[in-house]
Amino acid sequence: PSKSDNQLILMHEFAADMYHHILLNTEEGQAALDYLENRGFTREMIERYRIGWSLPEWNYMATALQRKGYSEEELMNSGLAIQREQGNGFFDRFRGRVMFPIMNESGKVIAFSGRILENTKTEAKYMNSPESPIFQKSQVLYNVHQARSAIRKNRKIILFEGFMDVIAAGKAGVDNALATMGTSLTPQHIRAMKRFAQEIVICFDGDDAGWEAAKRAAIALNEDKFKVEVAVLPGKMDPDDYVREHGQDAFREQVIGKPHAFIAFAMMHARRHKNFQYENDLLQYVQEVLQLLAGRSSPIERDLYIKQLANETKLSEEAILQQYRKLENRSIEQSRPERVAKTVKREPKRIT
Ligand code: CTP
Ligand code: MN
Ligand code: MN
Ligand code: MN
Ligand code: MN
Repeated sequence: PSKSDNQLILMHEFAADMYHHILLNTEEGQAALDYLENRGFTREMIERYRIGWSLPEWNYMATALQRKGYSEEELMNSGLAIQREQGNGFFDRFRGRVMFPIMNESGKVIAFSGRILENTKTEAKYMNSPESPIFQKSQVLYNVHQARSAIRKNRKIILFEGFMDVIAAGKAGVDNALATMGTSLTPQHIRAMKRFAQEIVICFDGDDAGWEAAKRAAIALNEDKFKVEVAVLPGKMDPDDYVREHGQDAFREQVIGKPHAFIAFAMMHARRHKNFQYENDLLQYVQEVLQLLAGRSSPIERDLYIKQLANETKLSEEAILQQYRKLENRSIEQSRPERVAKTVKREPKRIT
């Protein structure tokens, strides 16, 4: 990292220590501490993830950083302060929020996410640091520095939607946990994870958004040759809700311990919101699943899931298999671009 990157990191480290201190040791931090306690955070967890509290004042952190000798320009570059639109001066980006530091792979603070204490309709639940030379959302994964050794040991990553879920998983003893920082999974995230493991369990929220995001992530990871499994939560719960409602053991054993294979999950996804009493739903389901299978090569998986399809839909295996062969032929024809290209290249010869 360059000298100015180091400077930015030092500013974030300073801010993290200060937010953390305010949360744990001051009167002003008490409401946030109560909030965290209500959500099941222990003192140990607060320390492990260096959680803090930003005071609801306009210039607290900016002033503190200036006193440390940082310039106005450095303050803006760090993203910790925001320039006023009118007139001079600047103000703190994070005010009155529970502060979650985001660390790089060496465990140094490079950004923050701040949560308001009470959800409102007007204010964003989470506010993140802006992109900076040391923080690119499309690359950073939460908890890499703490999870890396557990990932290597388990040869597996457990991927969550949010850092609250990573923290809840940690409480339940699931330490090989990562999350993106509020963006969907990018190729850079996937490349970063590939350095640590070849196997991954996706465990996203049980709401519709979570199911859709899990489907997209599963497809992308599967294409990048990860062995993909998906752990599914009941209802609209997220992993953090589940741990609080059913406990750590149930989470470890029933959710993380019983993931679905990629195709089985994709079938569950395709079946969601469908009613097989309607033939449209049923036909669409069969088509979706067969398309998925046509892109894969294992004959055993094909056999297994075609049997399952027949069972679920009460159609004959024979009919499903015929339909499958049609799709497979079509997908083979589509995957022959080289031949088409060669034919085109030969054409000039024929003319001479
Ligand atoms: N997120 C965000 N801004 C929001 C909402 C969500 O950046 N306004 C990102 C955060 O990184 C968050 C993730 O999306 O961790 C998942 O969102 P959500 O499921 O809504 O948050 P939870 O982790 O469940 O947070 P909480 O339990 O505090 O509601
Ligand atoms: Mn969610
Ligand atoms: Mn959630
Ligand atoms: Mn949650
Ligand atoms: Mn769906």
